[in-house]
Amino acid sequence: MKTTFITTAITAVALAVGLAVGEPEAPLADIPLPAPRMAGGKPLLTALKERQTSRAFSAKPLPMQLVSDLLWAAFGINRTDTGKRTAPSARNWQEIDVYVVLAEGAYRYDAQANLLRAVVKGDLRALTGRQPFVATAPLNLVYVADPARMKGADAADISLYSGADAAFIGQNVYLFCASEGLGTVVRGLVDREALAEALKLPKPLRIVFAQTVGYPEEKAAPAPL
Ligand SMILES: Cc1cc2nc3c(=O)[nH]c(=O)nc-3n(C[C@H](O)[C@H](O)[C@H](O)COP(=O)(O)O)c2cc1C
Repeated sequence: MKTTFITTAITAVALAVGLAVGEPEAPLADIPLPAPRMAGGKPLLTALKERQTSRAFSAKPLPMQLVSDLLWAAFGINRTDTGKRTAPSARNWQEIDVYVVLAEGAYRYDAQANLLRAVVKGDLRALTGRQPFVATAPLNLVYVADPARMKGADAADISLYSGADAAFIGQNVYLFCASEGLGTVVRGLVDREALAEALKLPKPLRIVFAQTVGYPEEKAAPAPL
């Protein structure tokens, strides 16, 4: 009886405290991705013909199937026996992680598990670049190098090879976007310090480039005559 009373009292106090301070916000959850489509799209030569940079994006979110396809094209695993990827990397270091910054939060693409691992809750899009469209485009990728994976590389190697390896991923994204009618721009104009802090990246990790992806901005309908 006494125990029941104490339990009830504790529950009441906990409820009262909960009501007073408000419920803690739910943490950002991982997002399992649908299996990527590994077939279809425009012929390679057509995609190359249409590859281009664009800087005007609709705010319309991208469906998760398209995000999954995009990330697989960018740096997914295309040989499960070896774990090798759709983009080459120097000495197969695979030192680039692809971060995905959406309106609801920032995630890291886990190609092995095919999911977006939650990194930071909240809208960090504006911090992914110095150009205004980054804040409203639905998705910004951030290519982050982990020098710890680049065994035997000195500072010059780290800089050269992480730049090259990120650029291959960026070109895959360009070709995927050309194939799917999406707009994209790879970007060096990034405040790396501010973005690294917002993404809570430990010091040795380096932001190489960012890349915005979205539907092309819809042109306003012409005024009726
Ligand atoms: C390494 C690299 C960094 C770039 N950085 C930016 C950038 O910060 N902002 C931007 O608007 N475009 C950026 N661009 C896009 C170039 O301006 C664009 O590729 C160039 O004008 C040629 O246009 P095209 O891609 O349509 O052929 C970058 C391109 C590369 C390869």
